Amino acid sequence: MKSIKINEEKCIHCGLCITDCVSSCIGFDKNNVPEMKEENRCIACGHCMAICPTGALSFNDKNPDELEEVNYDDILALIKSRRSVRQYKEEEIPAETMQKLKEMLPYIPTGCNSHSLHFAIVEKKSVMDVMRKKVSALLLKTMSYKAMAPIINKFSRYKDSFLNGEDVIFRDAPHMIVVSSPLTAPCANVDPIIALSYIELYAQHLGLGTCWCGFAQACIKMFPELCDILEIPSGYKPVYAMLLGIPKVKYQRVIAPAPYKISEITEIREKDSCIFCKIKRIVTNFLR
Ligand SMILES: Cc1cc2nc3c(=O)[nH]c(=O)nc-3n(C[C@H](O)[C@H](O)[C@H](O)COP(=O)(O)O)c2cc1C
Repeated sequence: MKSIKINEEKCIHCGLCITDCVSSCIGFDKNNVPEMKEENRCIACGHCMAICPTGALSFNDKNPDELEEVNYDDILALIKSRRSVRQYKEEEIPAETMQKLKEMLPYIPTGCNSHSLHFAIVEKKSVMDVMRKKVSALLLKTMSYKAMAPIINKFSRYKDSFLNGEDVIFRDAPHMIVVSSPLTAPCANVDPIIALSYIELYAQHLGLGTCWCGFAQACIKMFPELCDILEIPSGYKPVYAMLLGIPKVKYQRVIAPAPYKISEITEIREKDSCIFCKIKRIVTNFLR
């Protein structure tokens, strides 16, 4: 159920809840008080309650006076300081810090507000240790099959490391987070990436180390037994993995990375692209 309630003593009839509604489901009633007109279109994003300047609007019975104030303090320093951490202390993250991270999760945006992500959080290092051993054994076994070469090739150069017991996949991290989305979610491949970006920044703000882990992701995709350990619900696709732990290393300064390509668009610059250029462009757009 999606509903709004208006405290008529507080409502100043500004209409901001109406104009900010992405699905146009709120309108004024005959007394100029906002009301839910199209409940079935509402995606429960809560913008109507967030934008109300007087706290007159309650969404789904939440008390606007009990909600936290918006605060956009300096995040740029955090973005610049973020690093991939590949050396972790053995100890686990304290439960209260892990709890803070979990409390942030519901604020992560998802396409159409589908809000259907699954977070597999490996909370015990002992579980990671089992996964480390399992993955190493599975990779070595898979490498022994010639037919698997195209799939396993990128791991082949680490064969000696696996044999020496080095954890080149999970970097000895005590924790890992894998984010999955239902195949039916409108933005199934994008939502988990957004989620991990939020997790990474907040985790580093909390003094934790993180590392996006394409290797772990590839192994999770290849070996269904890992999906079982991670309790990924049926019909959900594990989209990406991130290592997590207390860093053993401390970075002292921010590097100055090379700038990305930026097109500064200030006017329409007409281009007479030929038909082949147009086709090439469309193919490129749809390939990814
Ligand atoms: C999508 C993605 C996948 C990555 N996969 C791995 C990985 O499997 N193993 C690893 O050690 N680092 C991995 N990284 C970390 C990158 O190597 C790292 O971001 C890059 O070297 C820049 O370093 P920085 O993150 O400290 O700025 C990955 C990063 C991204 C964004």
